[in-house]
Amino acid sequence: MSMMSIRAATPRDREAIRLVEEHAFGQKAEAGLVDALVSGGDAVVELVAEEEGQVVGHILFSRLYVEHAGREFPAVALAPLAVEPAMHGSGIGGALVREAHLRLKQAGETLAIVLGDPAYYSRFGYERQRAAGFESDYQCDALQALAWGEAPEAGKLVYATAFGAELAA
Ligand SMILES: CC(C)(COP(=O)(O)OP(=O)(O)OC[C@H]1O[C@@H](n2cnc3c(N)ncnc32)[C@H](O)[C@@H]1OP(=O)(O)O)[C@@H](O)C(=O)NCCC(=O)NCCS
Repeated sequence: MSMMSIRAATPRDREAIRLVEEHAFGQKAEAGLVDALVSGGDAVVELVAEEEGQVVGHILFSRLYVEHAGREFPAVALAPLAVEPAMHGSGIGGALVREAHLRLKQAGETLAIVLGDPAYYSRFGYERQRAAGFESDYQCDALQALAWGEAPEAGKLVYATAFGAELAA
């Protein structure tokens, strides 16, 4: 029986996280995004999944602001989420998302945004409709939101600057 555990990422995990991201996405862009978000001070919740002392999964939520009616409302963006390919389908991704959500709620966060496959993220409560009113360069059917409390339904999504640098295209 496997002994997977989830914990907050630490500075000593950086290289292992980079490798999981590269393996999961088959490219270096997401690993670079993670490094830029963390070094920019934009990480809000960052967790790793460990199995037998090895980092096999990683999730990062970074600060995002909703600019609405002249105010900036703090929210979070889920990106990226990565699991070692050999371990896909064993519940690690889901466990990372659920644990991160618990911690975000405990910290008083009320709104999370994700750009990803609705077939996957809808199981965690993300809804396309909840994100449809936001203004964003990433606005499309894959943009979804999950609210745990009072949060804007309109306004401009302003991501951490690392997103522009790493994923603009
Ligand atoms: C997406 C990812 C993190 C899921 O991790 P995981 O540990 O395999 O996920 P879980 O075991 O918790 O869940 C597996 C379920 O999700 C489904 N799933 C995984 N990726 C999916 C996708 N892109 N679209 C729809 N369903 C997906 C699987 O079919 C499986 O379905 P089931 O529960 O009905 O059997 C992992 O596949 C991964 O690292 N992929 C490459 C990187 C990536 O695409 N990250 C997300 C970017 S937004």
